[in-house]
Amino acid sequence: MWFNPWRRKNKEVIDSGIDYQKLPRHIAIIMDGNGRWAQKRGLPRTMGHRAGVEALREIVKTCSKLDIQVLSVYAFSTENWKRPKEEIGFLMNLLTEYLRRELNELHQNNVVVRALGAIDQLPDEAQNELFKAFKQTENNKGLILNLALNYGGRGELIEAIKKVSGQVKSGKLRITEIDEECISGFLYTSGLPDPDLLIRTSGEMRLSNFLLWQLAYTEIVVTDKLWPDFNKQDLLDALKIYQKRDRRFGGLKTDKR
Ligand code: FPP
Repeated sequence: MWFNPWRRKNKEVIDSGIDYQKLPRHIAIIMDGNGRWAQKRGLPRTMGHRAGVEALREIVKTCSKLDIQVLSVYAFSTENWKRPKEEIGFLMNLLTEYLRRELNELHQNNVVVRALGAIDQLPDEAQNELFKAFKQTENNKGLILNLALNYGGRGELIEAIKKVSGQVKSGKLRITEIDEECISGFLYTSGLPDPDLLIRTSGEMRLSNFLLWQLAYTEIVVTDKLWPDFNKQDLLDALKIYQKRDRRFGGLKTDKR
């Protein structure tokens, strides 16, 4: 059986109040507030993104230690191309730098690096680092880290509809066979469980075109913390809130049936 080297450490480092039997399988995060974090300190916005990478490192490590199956983080949306050219360039370089710097540690921690989104439209350098990371980590058995890059939920659904229509047209699929499982199979998250928990930082109550299909029954926790300030304890607090929720998936509570 596969052994997670973090497991034994968990019991020592991760405080609790957490019920280890009720952890989410998949956590999605909208990492918002980098710009405001920088602004509050009189720094350029880009420094907020750099600080955001450090927060991401800590959260990936903690999710690994907790044996979370999947972590999906919104790093660059299809709408983010509307930002100033300099900020876009900075974010793309940051991604390249992050992968170069972190890949070995991610690999040692058994993390599988994947992407959600149209990554063929990213700069070549970033794509090269991504493909290197996919290849090096594809056989790992730990946390699946989905980096949402040039990702948009509506765009993802449009692509899925095109693929489904193509299969119907070519006779590979009957219209009556189109169901939820079929659609899920055409999304970037194919084969993965839907997120159980969505965390959004910096207080905004929006989905911002993130995982629109997959978030249908996800529990949402919004915190006022700005992303660069979000740390291990904040993640544990979000998990505690999640564990108090009563997930009914449209049904009734067991004792009300
Ligand atoms: C939202 O903050 C954040 C982003 C658009 C980028 C998220 C990127 C990171 C956390 C770091 C990069 C990650 C990788 C993998 C390289 P915002 O700029 O919208 O903040 P604001 O709402 O305060 O302006």
